[in-house]
This record gives sequence, structure tokens and C-alpha cells, in this order.
Amino acid sequence: MHRRLIAPGALAASLLLAIPASAADYTPGAPGIGDPYYPAYGNGGYDVSHYDLRLQYQPATDELQGTATLLATTTQDLSRFDLDFLLDVSEVRVNGAKASFTTSGQHELEITPATPLPKGTPVTVVVRYSGVPSTKSAYGFSTWHRTPDGAVAADEPESAWWWFPSNDHPSDKATYDVSVAVPDGTQAISNGTLQSTSSRLGWTRYSWRSNKPQATYLATLAIGKFDITTGTTAAGVPVVNAYSKDLGDNDGAARASVERTGEIVDWLTGYFGPYPFSSVGGYVPNTTTGYALETQTRVYYSPRQFANGSNTSVVVHELAHQWYGDDVSLKGWKDIWINEGFARYAQWLWSEHEGEGTAQELADYVYASHPADDAFWKVAPGDPGPDNQFDTAVYDRGAVAVQALRNEVGDDTFFAILKGWPREHAYGNASVGDFQKYAEKVSGKSLATLFDTWLFEPSKPAAPAARGASIAVAPATAGAPATAGAPAQPRSWKKIAATDSVHSG
Ligand code: TRP
Ligand code: ZN
Repeated sequence: MHRRLIAPGALAASLLLAIPASAADYTPGAPGIGDPYYPAYGNGGYDVSHYDLRLQYQPATDELQGTATLLATTTQDLSRFDLDFLLDVSEVRVNGAKASFTTSGQHELEITPATPLPKGTPVTVVVRYSGVPSTKSAYGFSTWHRTPDGAVAADEPESAWWWFPSNDHPSDKATYDVSVAVPDGTQAISNGTLQSTSSRLGWTRYSWRSNKPQATYLATLAIGKFDITTGTTAAGVPVVNAYSKDLGDNDGAARASVERTGEIVDWLTGYFGPYPFSSVGGYVPNTTTGYALETQTRVYYSPRQFANGSNTSVVVHELAHQWYGDDVSLKGWKDIWINEGFARYAQWLWSEHEGEGTAQELADYVYASHPADDAFWKVAPGDPGPDNQFDTAVYDRGAVAVQALRNEVGDDTFFAILKGWPREHAYGNASVGDFQKYAEKVSGKSLATLFDTWLFEPSKPAAPAARGASIAVAPATAGAPATAGAPAQPRSWKKIAATDSVHSG
């Protein structure tokens, strides 16, 4: 009711002084966006449409400084609102006017604008900040990774807090301009297309643009000494890859994998439809982490992913996420199967393509290798809980669920669903329930029992996901010799399992 603010006359003025009626209508935005897995993540009361980050980073000291300009729209009458952030803030402006600010909780920056903000209006928030990200932690951890020549922000679900203020939840996607000045001879890598570089007084500025909606955890920044390669996919999408100059013995295998990005994007396009973004590629910094992450348009790969030689399976997994996870993002973190079940299934399709075991063989192997009393079957991929969000079951049982769907609706319908989903929810957010509804719409079948059995029941389903009861256990074709009745380990198995290094940590 902001109209009361401008009510004319002495009566209105005295009322404003006596009882702050209008201020009572303007309430603080919630300190969390309402995700039950992570109650403090994200914030209430506004929706961000664009982040403009103009930064400078010094690798020698890990000092990051700059200005973030956020374009947002209020979703309630706001007396104040939060951003999620850990670095040191020196000034905040809201719609041009200086705002007061303080910190609270583990990662809240509380901003009180000089004038309350009416619902449904555009807001520009400018945050000036600096800090040494490696000295900041929340809940006792940090996900900012320093390297010998720089640093990297790439983690899930928390990575933004260490480098830019945000509404940190995938349900509030926005476009990004990320411009970072680094000492000459060092590069800054981020999402999207490199719009420009410029050099001045010993500093080189790299300006990147990600022009399609992007979740905060999919924004990435890498500073270091890289060798950058460029190309285009068959469909004309620009490819930009970057390799740390000190990958040592992993250098060849990293390049032999990531340089196949264009080929793999083209192959995935056959299953998922047109690639949704303006650019694609990956980078391999000299980090000691083990995982890979589907950072939008510019995938993060740990060097360790290539320690045993080339690994196209991990490239397939992360690029599959560009459709399943990045283009169509989850609504809440409980919907993680929307991401991981399908990225894992894409690895199974790649295994089939490479002649290293079919998706059915991989599904049968997962089913057979976990006995009924294995904790594996206690995890419900459709709502695994925050502690099991990245459990192997979310990936493997999640992919078996996808195979079960394929068997239930038949290949033609299944592949129509696989390709139709990214179109149905392009650049948006969706839940496990939305996927079930969509699959039911396309197939004309009720799938409640199938989804419940494979995604929600905390027990091993009575029979494997099979194409009719007659093929309970598909004949094994390769890999380790089968023991009586048990399917052989598909040849691709170990390579696929090795992309899981995140869950063992
Ligand atoms: N989404 C990543 C993948 O499947 C894996 C992942 C889970 C991860 N948790 C993470 C990566 C934490 C980095 C940090 O490829
Ligand atoms: Zn994944």
C-alpha cells in the first residue's frame, strides 16, 4: 500500500509520524527463499534479472574487489531485503541512494534502503566490496579454491558467496556480465562469450557475457594462466576451452577429452534438441579437487578426472547438464534427479554409442549389484534429503528410473520425452512432479506407480527395469565374466563410476 506514503495533507503526515501505517505494510524480505533443504539459501521479496560484476583480482594476495550491480524487481512491499554474501562491503546503493547495511546469520547481507520499496517495481542495487575470499567461511567451510596461479569459484550448491552478492538459489535465474581485471599474463575465464579484452597499466580486463538465464551456482570464475582454444560446433556454436598451463601429466588426457566438446554437443543435440546457449566449452584449472561441475556454457573439470587417461564420459555428463539442469533448472534442491538422473543416463547412452554396454545392461548391472539390504535402496532419488543430495543412488538409481520409463513407454515416446522436456521448460525451472506430468502427457499413460517405485520407495523394487517380464536380466556382452545369473559389469562401468568422485568426499 505505498499510496499511503504520498497521501497529502497534515493529517496524513501526522499519522505517518504517530503510527507508521505505511511502514507496517512494508516488511523485510525473508532471509531464505523457502527451500526446505537449505532454509537460509536465497532470499525473499525480490527477483533478480541481471548481475553486472566489475571486478579486479590479484592472484598473489587473493584480493578480490569490485562492484556488483543487480537489476531486480520487488515481489512484496519491502522495508529491507537480504543478499547472500561473505566479502566485506563498503557501500550499498539502492536506486541511486545510499542504503544502510549489516550482516546476519551465516551469509546474509541485510540491506535497508533509504526509502521502502513498493511491490512490483524495478530496483537497482549497487554493492561495492573487497576481501580475501579464502579467509571467509560459512557453516565452517569455504568453496573458494586457490591455485598456484589464481583461484576458482565452481561448486554446488554453494559457490557465489565468495565472489558476488546474490539471491543464491537456482529458482532465481538471471543473465550475467562478468568483467574481471587480472595482472597481464593471467586470464580470467567465466561463462558465455568473451565480449572484449583490454590492457592498461599492467592489468588485463576480460569481459564475459552469459545472455541466457543462469542459476547462481552455475556462474563460474577462474583466474590463472591458461592456454585457450577456440572452435565451433557443427551447428555453429562457438567453443571456448581453457587449460591451465601446469596440468603436468594430465594435460594430454584433459585436452583429448575436452577438445571433443563440439562433437559431443552435436551428438547430444540428437537426443536433447538444439543446444540452448550462445557458447560452449570447458576449463581445466590446476585445482586439487576431484569433481566436475556443469557451470553454464563453461564446464569445470578437475585435472584428476583425467588421471587415468581421456574421459569423454565426464564430458558427456557435464554437457548433458546444459539441457538437464542448466537450461531446465530444478525448482527446489529436492528435485536434483531432474539434473543428475539424466546426466548419468546420457553417460549410459554414450556407453551404448561407444559399444561399451547398453543402457539396459547398465541398469541391470546397477540392479543386480545392490542387494535388497544395501543402503543404496534407502535413498529416494526423487527427494533424497540434503545429506544424500549427491549420493550415488541419485545418479545410478536415478538413471535406472529413466531406463524404467523408457521400457514402460517404448523408445519412440521415450526419446520424444527426452527431446521435448528442454523445449517444454526452456530457460525455466521444473520439479520431479512436473517431469512425471510431462511424461504422462506425451505418453498418454499414468506413470504414478513407475515413478513411485523407482524414485520414492525406500526399498529395492521387486523386479529390475525390464522390457517386459521375459527379459528380467539382459544378456551380458562384455566386461567381467558373469557369475551365475548376475549380469556382467559393462565395459564402461568403471569409467562412469569414476565421474562420481564428488560423493566419496
Ligand atoms: N553436479 C556435479 C556433477 O554431477 C556434481 C557435484 C555434486 C558437485 N556436488 C558437488 C560438484 C559439489 C562440485 C561440488 O557433475
Ligand atoms: Zn551431474
